[in-house]
Amino acid sequence: MRRILFISLVVLVAALFVACTQQPTQPQSASPQSAQATANELTIFSWWTAGGEADGLAELIKLFEAQNPGVKVVNAAVAGGAGTNAKAVLKTRMLGGDPPGTFQVHGGAELIEQWVKSKYMAPITSLFDELGLRDKFPKQLLDLVTYNGQIYAVPSNIHRGNVLWYNKAIFDKQHLTPPKTIDDLLVVCKKLKAAGVTPLSLGSREKWPVTHLFEDLLLAAGGADFYRDLFAGKIAWTDNRVKLALSTLQSLMPYFNDDHAALTWDQATGLVQQGKAAMNVMGDWAKGYFTANHAKPNVDFGAVPTPGTVGFFVVVTDTFGLPAKAPNPKATLAFLKVVASVEGQVNFNLKKGSIPARIDVPTGQFDEIARATMADFAANVLVPSCAHGSAVIESFVTALNDQLSVFIAGGNADETAKALEAAARDAGIRH
Ligand code: GAL
Repeated sequence: MRRILFISLVVLVAALFVACTQQPTQPQSASPQSAQATANELTIFSWWTAGGEADGLAELIKLFEAQNPGVKVVNAAVAGGAGTNAKAVLKTRMLGGDPPGTFQVHGGAELIEQWVKSKYMAPITSLFDELGLRDKFPKQLLDLVTYNGQIYAVPSNIHRGNVLWYNKAIFDKQHLTPPKTIDDLLVVCKKLKAAGVTPLSLGSREKWPVTHLFEDLLLAAGGADFYRDLFAGKIAWTDNRVKLALSTLQSLMPYFNDDHAALTWDQATGLVQQGKAAMNVMGDWAKGYFTANHAKPNVDFGAVPTPGTVGFFVVVTDTFGLPAKAPNPKATLAFLKVVASVEGQVNFNLKKGSIPARIDVPTGQFDEIARATMADFAANVLVPSCAHGSAVIESFVTALNDQLSVFIAGGNADETAKALEAAARDAGIRH
């Protein structure tokens, strides 16, 4: 009996020891076998598979391969706009101790709250200092990749989220000018519909494009301070300005393509390119899509800020960092160097539709829309995108995606606002 008791005690102590030393939230080391297999590899993880997105990534890979001939690049892109599918795959890899060499991540909450604070990322401040990069990026962008004085990622681009794309031929034929305010937009939509043209295109098969539009409507309803305070949890989601944005969304619904629930973002942008819809609200990766499909900026399609958001710039920034347990840190750092380089920023952004994150790159090759975006970034009031991870933690973005998807199927503004307030409390952004 005493022996059995003794053995049980030993087992209990051993179990307690294991439990205390295990840190379930910490990344695990890659197994020696996988480390060996990846010694000459760099896995780049992203969701860039559509139009100009894939082309932009290919430019970065081309530069990397030219500079690192011994390293094989594995392009581990997972299709699905805004990371719809990629983010879940990434989480499994990171939590399972199998991080890619580097991965696409939005600056702000997505990078800092999810991966940096939980120690899944290694700082790359020394790379910034070695390459003299600190003053080469706008301070607002560096703030989105900095935590406790350390820099954790290199911004590859600046996308503008609040853009209304329009088909020039349709606008000319209907004698329309691009709308500046929500009221203008509703008037233009009414005219187009009466002329038998689908006024607005939407692809709501993935939920985020609705959130993408809605964040612009929030900005239109309440301005930049309201927008920031709302996502910072200082304003209730039952506020009248949230309800106004919801009712604007409701009044736009009759003007969308009937099949929006079946389409992805790029298919919706495609409707404008093909002349099957007049307008589309989308980030300027849509420009990458248009140009990849041989449409010419300011000839075939035009761009203006989403109505009601003139003077505001919704910032979306894709960044790349160094996972703490990256299998081949040397190769990762070599890739980050390419992302940060003048050539990398130019070649990538020319295809991607975004503007370079670096402020010291030559702009001669960029089209008129990109140059207008650069001027607006410098002059406008900047706010971080919620739909694209910078403004708020992912659990709330997911709740917002879900609530809006119910709302556009016939929901009620008061009830949705209440549900959003509850979601904000659940996510811990409202106390
Ligand atoms: C965003 C990302 C962009 C673009 C877009 C559509 O979240 O920042 O680079 O890829 O999704 O997929």
